[in-house]
Amino acid sequence: MTRTPIVAGNWKMNKGTAQEATALINELKAALLESSGNGAEVVVCPPFTALAAAKQAIGASPIALGAQNVFWKASGAYTGQIAPQMLVDLGVSHVIIGHSEARGRFGVAEPDFTPDVLKQFGETDVTVNRKTRAALAAGLVPIVCIGETLTERQNGHTDVVVQTQVQGALEEIGSDDVTRIVFAYEPVWAIGTGEVCGADEADRVCGVVRAAVAALYEETAAQAVRVQYGGSMKPDNAPDLLTRPHIDGGLIGGASLKASDFAAIIRAAQS
Ligand code: 13P
Repeated sequence: MTRTPIVAGNWKMNKGTAQEATALINELKAALLESSGNGAEVVVCPPFTALAAAKQAIGASPIALGAQNVFWKASGAYTGQIAPQMLVDLGVSHVIIGHSEARGRFGVAEPDFTPDVLKQFGETDVTVNRKTRAALAAGLVPIVCIGETLTERQNGHTDVVVQTQVQGALEEIGSDDVTRIVFAYEPVWAIGTGEVCGADEADRVCGVVRAAVAALYEETAAQAVRVQYGGSMKPDNAPDLLTRPHIDGGLIGGASLKASDFAAIIRAAQS
């Protein structure tokens, strides 16, 4: 089964003004014009505040627009939340769900919480599942993030953590819908640290994700699901990661803020 690679830029809380987002997208469009190949889906995920401007800047180019979060209710007294349909209305097609910067382990802040290691937003496998189902129902492509902390890895719990997160995300999701989900394996210790997960190990864990899907659905569904790697992916390590059999693209933080670096990663996914 050939899966179309998907490379998504998670801008996090950066480039959130209309002017900044427009400039970065224009640079990206110019950088991608120089690229020879095609065949990878490209998504940019600016902050909510820049989605409308980003859509306008994207124009007719094939870049897709993603959001960084979504709530599962359609409307109501949920201060600060954004409903799936509100994103659809802005031209958003993808949404990141359950990023480790939004998750809390067991719904509470980790003991090593510091203001610059934000894990206090309390996202759990239950909320990730609700958001994933709501996103699917609205026709959005959920990019569901999973991954172990350093402590979990050191204790030998990587596979069980990832399996549990995949199972939790997929509760009550049918086999027709599961293939629309993109999983992003993002080892927490590799995010924003410059410490990339080795390509062999990243590929192995992306295979664990696929096997966890296969355990719940038929094998054809598991073969169709795309699994990205995320965590300090840069132009220099992307070719090794993106040519592995279980890695179907990347979720890129820091390097997606520089058009030339993001374009280089996209080219690595296309070759
Ligand atoms: P970095 O690429 O900056 O490590 O961030 C990865 C990430 O968290 C993408 O969601």
